[in-house]
Amino acid sequence: MTIWTRKRVPAIGQGSWYIERGDKAEAIAALRHGVDLGLTHIDTAEMYGDGASEAIIGEAIAGRRDAVFLVSKVLPHNASRAGIRAACERTLKHLKTDRLDGYLLHWRGPHPLEETFAAFEALKQEGKILSWGVSNFDEDDLDEALEVAGDGKIACNQVLYHLRERAIEHAVIPWCQRHGVAVTAYSPFGHHDFPEPGSAQGRVLAEIASAHGATPRQVALAFLTRDPAVFAIPKAASLTHVEDNAGALTVSLTEADIARIDAAFPRGRKPSSLPMI
Ligand SMILES: NC(=O)c1ccc[n+]([C@@H]2O[C@H](COP(=O)([O-])OP(=O)(O)OC[C@H]3O[C@@H](n4cnc5c(N)ncnc54)[C@H](OP(=O)(O)O)[C@@H]3O)[C@@H](O)[C@H]2O)c1
Repeated sequence: MTIWTRKRVPAIGQGSWYIERGDKAEAIAALRHGVDLGLTHIDTAEMYGDGASEAIIGEAIAGRRDAVFLVSKVLPHNASRAGIRAACERTLKHLKTDRLDGYLLHWRGPHPLEETFAAFEALKQEGKILSWGVSNFDEDDLDEALEVAGDGKIACNQVLYHLRERAIEHAVIPWCQRHGVAVTAYSPFGHHDFPEPGSAQGRVLAEIASAHGATPRQVALAFLTRDPAVFAIPKAASLTHVEDNAGALTVSLTEADIARIDAAFPRGRKPSSLPMI
């Protein structure tokens, strides 16, 4: 059982990296539409557009904060005791809210985990964050984090996971399952690496999709979130993309589908270090 449950956090959410580079009104409309369709988990970070992504989300969720599960990330060089507090205040201001549902260390950096986690706990005591976690942590980082934090504190590990990058299946997902830590799959469409429709991999997805009255991207998201400990946060900046992604919430793959996808997108060997982008 993870701290983040599917009751509170939908299997599919919404990412926001580079959202500030597109049309702002369209991005806001897409985020709002996503929330209406159940994609209530919204992921951002102080790094994205140097706060611009958070500010767009702040506008998108105005008046509906309670409907959203809001997550942001602190940059590693800000993850000192005082630095986290200042970063969190900036983030809350950008998002125009008084609390985050999740606050994550974006990746490991110069500050000791003891200090970062103590700062997270202090913010939690004050109600400014309701849970905290990490991102881009491999198995050995997670061991160390658990040693520092103790059981039941780390809510989430946000890591790279898509059909062509399944490294976390070797050790990170099993570790998180054992310790009740939610896994958030970032770049679930490979950032810009989704199988072309005419390719062999694209045809496998299309055939499975057609059997379910679904789309290839919905099949991909359903595959990635087949384990209840895993959540995915595709970034989409248009209404049609958001609608497509929300449709994945109701796609349920069969064992045969999963075996076929597994064969078409081999997991490969465990890499020496965790891939990240
Ligand atoms: N923790 C970390 O270190 C880390 C690293 C990377 C990402 N992230 C998080 O994960 C989120 C998702 O990852 P990502 O942004 O790298 O890439 P992604 O979600 O894998 O892919 C985004 C791309 O897919 C397109 N897209 C989305 N839905 C689509 C659909 N239904 N049909 C066709 N195209 C679709 C988007 O186009 P449009 O924009 O035109 O809709 C965009 O070009 C980020 O936004 C961020 O919040 C975290």
